[in-house]
Amino acid sequence: MDKIVIEGGVPLKGEVAISGAKNAALPILAATLLAPGIHHLYNVPPLADIRTFKKVLGLMGVSFEEGKPLIVDTSRLTGWMAPYEVVKTMRAAVLVLGPLVARARQASVSLPGGCAIGARPIDLHLKGLAAMGVKIRLNQGYVEARVKRLKGAEITLDTPTVTGTENLMMAAVLAQGVTRIHNAAQEPEVADLARFLVAMGAKIEGIGTDVLTITGVNALTPAPYTIMPDRIEAGTYLAAAAITRGEVTITNAPVAAMSAVLEKFQEAGVRLKTDDDRIVVEQGGSLVGVDVKTRPYPGFPTDMQAQFMALMTLARGASLITETIFENRFMHVSELKRLGADITISANQAMVRGKKQLLGAPVMATDLRASASLVVAGLAAQGTTEVHRVYHLDRGYAHLTEKLTALGARIRRVPA
Ligand code: UD1
Repeated sequence: MDKIVIEGGVPLKGEVAISGAKNAALPILAATLLAPGIHHLYNVPPLADIRTFKKVLGLMGVSFEEGKPLIVDTSRLTGWMAPYEVVKTMRAAVLVLGPLVARARQASVSLPGGCAIGARPIDLHLKGLAAMGVKIRLNQGYVEARVKRLKGAEITLDTPTVTGTENLMMAAVLAQGVTRIHNAAQEPEVADLARFLVAMGAKIEGIGTDVLTITGVNALTPAPYTIMPDRIEAGTYLAAAAITRGEVTITNAPVAAMSAVLEKFQEAGVRLKTDDDRIVVEQGGSLVGVDVKTRPYPGFPTDMQAQFMALMTLARGASLITETIFENRFMHVSELKRLGADITISANQAMVRGKKQLLGAPVMATDLRASASLVVAGLAAQGTTEVHRVYHLDRGYAHLTEKLTALGARIRRVPA
C-alpha cells in the first residue's frame, strides 16, 4: 500500500485546476440508469470511487467507453443488485436504489452498515420510497425493493439527507403524478443532479431550494452533461495554500457554491480574491482562530471540517469546531496531535489552540477528508510527514501529488 511523503514548510505557489465533483458525478452516473441509451458525460473526475461505481453499474449491464467525454451505455439493463462487497467500501452505491426501482421496478441493495464516520443509516431513503408505493423488505442484509407503478407523494425528510434527496428525486422523475420533497438537501451537487435530470426531460421545480416539486414523466432520454467542479477539492487546495502562506490561483472553482467556506477562511485572516470560477489566495496577514460549526448547505460543509481544523492548528488563538452532521468525525484529531497540534475534544466539539509550528511525523487516517487534513497539515509541518493509507485520498482527490508538486510542494508517493 502506497504512502505519501511530504517535506513540509514550502509556501505553495502557482495555479491549480479543480476536477469534476465526486459527489455530483456519483448520482449523475446513477441517473444514467433512468434513460436507456448512450450518455456523454464531461468532467467526470478520475477517482477510485468513480471506478468502483462504474463496477456496480457494470454488474447491471451498463458499459463504458473511457475518454472525454465518458460514454455510458445504459441501453440494456441485465441486473438490479448492488452487492455487500461494494456497498461496504462505498456507501454512495445506495444511489442506484432510486433509479433501479424507477426503471426496473425492483432493486436489491446491500445495507451500508456502519462506516468510519458514524452510523449513517438510510431509513429516510426507504421511508420516502415506501411513500411512493415501493414495497420494501429487508433480507439477509439487503434492501429488497419492488413496485408495480411508482406514485407521486408528499415527503418530508426528518433531516435533509443528500443522497436520500437524490435517491427520491431519481425515483420521482418517472413516477405517476407529483412528488414534493420537503426539507430537501440544498447541496449544489443535488442541484447538479437535478439539472442533469431536467436535461434528460424530467420536470423539477425548486432546484437548489429545500422544496423540490417533481412531476413524473413517462420516459427520459440521454443528454450530454458537464459535471460541476468539486467545491471540497477547491476548499482543500485553499487550506493548503493558506496553511503554507502561499500564493495560489485555484481555477475552475465553483465559487458561488463556496460562500460559507470562503467567508470562514477570510474571517481567519486568509486574503483572497474571487471571480466567477477563480479563487486567488494571496500572501497575507497572520492567521487567527475562528469558530466553525458544520451545517447542511448553505452552511459550512462537514466535508471541509477536517481540513479547516488543520489550518486552525497554526492560527493565533483558539478555535472551537463543532460537528453537527456526523457523530464520529474527529478521527483526524489524534493524528493532528501527533504532528504537535493542541486539540481537545468534548462530545461533538473540538477546541483547537493554535501553535507556532507543527512537526512532521508518520500519520494515517480512516477516512477521505481526515486524510486530506493530514496532507494539509503535513505541507506546513517542519520536517517529514508520512501519510499512510493513501487509498482514502485516491477515493476523492484527482492527481493529488501531481497537482501539489506543480505548486512547488515537496511531496511524493512511494510504496509503503
Ligand atoms: C453526502 C456526501 C458526503 C457528505 C454528506 C453530508 C455523497 C456521495 N456523500 O453523504 O460526502 O459528508 O452528504 O454533507 O454525496 N441520515 C439519517 N437517515 C438517512 C440518511 C441520513 O438519519 O436515511 C443522517 C445521517 O446519519 C447524517 C445526516 O443525515 O447525520 C446527513 O447525512 P447525508 O446527507 O445522508 O449524507 P450522505 O448523503 O451519506
